[in-house]
Amino acid sequence: MKDAAPRAIKLADYRPPAYLVEDVKLTFRLDPKATRVLSAIRFRRNPEGDGGPLRLDGEGLRLIRAAIDGAEVTPKVLPEELEIEAPDDFLWECEVEIAPEDNTALEGLYMSKGMYCTQCEAQGFRKITYYPDRPDVMAPFEVRVESDLPVLLSNGDKVETGEGYAVWRDPWKKPAYLFALVAGELIEVRDSFTTSEGRHVALSIWVRKGDETRCDYAMDSLKRSMKWDEEAYGRAYDLDQFSIVAVDDFNMGAMENKALNIFNARYVLASPETATDADYARIESIVAHEYFHNWTGNRITCRDWFQLCLKEGLTVFRDQIFSGDERSHAVKRIEEVHQLRARQFREDAGPLAHPVRPTSYIEINNFYTATVYEKGAEIIGMLRTLIGPEAYRKGTDLYFDRHDGQACTIEDWLQVFEDVTGRDLSQFALWYHQAGTPRVTVSHRIEAGTLVLSFRQEVPATPGQPTKQPMLIPIAVGAIGRDGTEVLPTQIVELTEAEQEAPFEIGADDAVPSVLRNFSAPVILTQEMSAEDRALLLAHDTDPFNKWEAGRQLAKTALLRMVTDGAEPDAAYLDALEPVLTDDRLDPSFRALVLGLPSDDDMAQTLADANSTPDPEAIAAARRRMSEAMARRLEAPLAELYDRLRIEGPYSPDAESAGKRSLRNAALSLLTKIDGGERARTQFAAADNMTDEVAALSALVRNGRGDDEAQAFHDRWKDDRLVMDKWFTLQVVNAPGASGAAVADRLTQHEAFDWKNPNRFRSVIGALGANHAAFHAADGSGYRLVADWLIRLDPLNPQTTARMTTMFETWTRYDADRRALAQEALERIAGAEGLSRDTSEMVTRILG
Ligand code: PHE
Ligand code: ZN
Repeated sequence: MKDAAPRAIKLADYRPPAYLVEDVKLTFRLDPKATRVLSAIRFRRNPEGDGGPLRLDGEGLRLIRAAIDGAEVTPKVLPEELEIEAPDDFLWECEVEIAPEDNTALEGLYMSKGMYCTQCEAQGFRKITYYPDRPDVMAPFEVRVESDLPVLLSNGDKVETGEGYAVWRDPWKKPAYLFALVAGELIEVRDSFTTSEGRHVALSIWVRKGDETRCDYAMDSLKRSMKWDEEAYGRAYDLDQFSIVAVDDFNMGAMENKALNIFNARYVLASPETATDADYARIESIVAHEYFHNWTGNRITCRDWFQLCLKEGLTVFRDQIFSGDERSHAVKRIEEVHQLRARQFREDAGPLAHPVRPTSYIEINNFYTATVYEKGAEIIGMLRTLIGPEAYRKGTDLYFDRHDGQACTIEDWLQVFEDVTGRDLSQFALWYHQAGTPRVTVSHRIEAGTLVLSFRQEVPATPGQPTKQPMLIPIAVGAIGRDGTEVLPTQIVELTEAEQEAPFEIGADDAVPSVLRNFSAPVILTQEMSAEDRALLLAHDTDPFNKWEAGRQLAKTALLRMVTDGAEPDAAYLDALEPVLTDDRLDPSFRALVLGLPSDDDMAQTLADANSTPDPEAIAAARRRMSEAMARRLEAPLAELYDRLRIEGPYSPDAESAGKRSLRNAALSLLTKIDGGERARTQFAAADNMTDEVAALSALVRNGRGDDEAQAFHDRWKDDRLVMDKWFTLQVVNAPGASGAAVADRLTQHEAFDWKNPNRFRSVIGALGANHAAFHAADGSGYRLVADWLIRLDPLNPQTTARMTTMFETWTRYDADRRALAQEALERIAGAEGLSRDTSEMVTRILG
């Protein structure tokens, strides 16, 4: 029998905690089956609380004993909490037993290949001991770890160590979700950093034996992040020790535990032979992200989980600017928008749409979303655009001054900017509260040397939010004259009304407006424009984002005509590509992005937006035909670039070399359509780095020619788990046509398919979601396979299962037959015996 519907938690019900915590002492006696956790916690009644008994969260704990001020007590123990009458000020002592080895959910204290580790965000600490597991309860922690294992770690600085134990003390007040413990046979890679305040910080990366040669890039990224945060935000590190630990079994990317960041190993380990340029870039940004949380998240945290974007949106924004500073802002921005549209716009357009600051949830783990993270970051970017970089920095300085050591809200965050600028930001705040991607339509006229832009904005209805108010939207605009020179440099228009006009003196009677430069706001822009005008922007726009976007729109229009009217690939589009491709003044990585076509999923969403039903096979076929036409039309310059961009000498992951490889491999991908695979086979055989190896193999697999090479790759890398994840993924993602589901099915039977490892599970089942035609195969085989595996994983790992249900979030876009098959799959998941709260919430919302 299924439980009654779980209760929704509401922002409106927030109440301050009844008790505050003065300090926490924990002792862990580690054992795989029977770890004892002893806690000694000083509680004090919160004057702002509403009285009442002491209530502590706790799940799956075996209570051994409890005492208040030394006297044994018998609290009332419920499945998810414990309750007891307590004085105003007292010492709570408690002993519980837990079994880390049986913890397959990877939340709380669990084991990964013989190593103990923890994951407490959002609510994992309650699986470790009884505690007020909420972010507005902050306290200093002292942790004693007892075990025979050689490496015993926790938050803060190590204060004592001896035979079979170590004691760690974290003097900074923190919420329990930032608690961490690690124990195992780990190798330490060391370095150091001296802060701008003169503090010498010991840096360590802890990995399994054999991986110690793959930590250099993460370490280098860490030092650059530390320096960057000092310069860009005036924030220095605040302890003598900082550690990163790499773990093989991890639900997410990484976690910012104070002084002891825990990472999914794939975002730490890199060597030229095993990691691609994209892996290097991700490692750099995730190392930065987690480090930056030290101030935005840890020193200043969230009052409650509805405020998650306070730390995540801001920290994503910080890591984005960092990566741009380290590499190229133009390229980084295009990649960000690409991601935002693929993940966040998709979410905003479907049944899972929710505000950046939600007002209700059933399972908080389901709200670590593209909306909270990526749209949350876009909001910070818009704020900075609106008030300017100086005021932005004044505001963040004030934020750190005013709120250090506190658990805050979005209102606190916006208040500092109102205070430093004197501006009323109440309309701007709607970005946090209204879900859905705003649609902005722009048209223009030119009268006597004045360009007049006419804007209309509309925010679509989303679940639970039928009507919306106009938003404050910063739109960066410029204009390019017929001769290709800029007649209007970038200006910011602040849209505040449903309809609005903006005039600009341009001193010319003809020009092409360039609107939403640098993607200054996360909106869907509609602008009627001729192919000639788009080609003019592709050739001459000074704004790199809009230059790329012009090509993108040309490609989209051409592909749409191929899908809906059976048109031929648009010759004008192909012609417009050549001058960009061959312009050596342009960054190669930018040119590689210009060569990329919109994804199948993007095309499907575009069709759905235009009220037509996407046909996944027709979309995939159009894309294939377009790629082939590109290859034929551009063969000579592509072949020339392919030969010329070969890099001599040893691999280096720097942005410039990576850019050359990305353009060269984009050329390879196209050329493989028409050269019988000759270049790709040669490159595969000769590759001395994973970027070139994967690119060559992927190109072959995409064209149904990679069987021998896939086998060779397997034989070469079968002992390397991270590379084998790539092997699984690339076969599923690149499987041509609808064959991907069968490929994925076959791979799940491979002996190396360890489905209990989240990375490996995602590398096959998750990868199917990235192969649009395969997941949406007309016979329902994609939906069925995913449903089967999610039903299997859910009892072990609800969090990863629930996240992966988002593969289905677009199911209502498609035809009646597909909808029926998808619904059947979703209902099968929904009806599974003992389905987790996590997955149940997701499937219910997706079914709508
Ligand atoms: N807070 C982590 C981050 O974004 C993400 C995370 C959430 C990791 C929940 C684990 C569990 O940096
Ligand atoms: Zn984060």
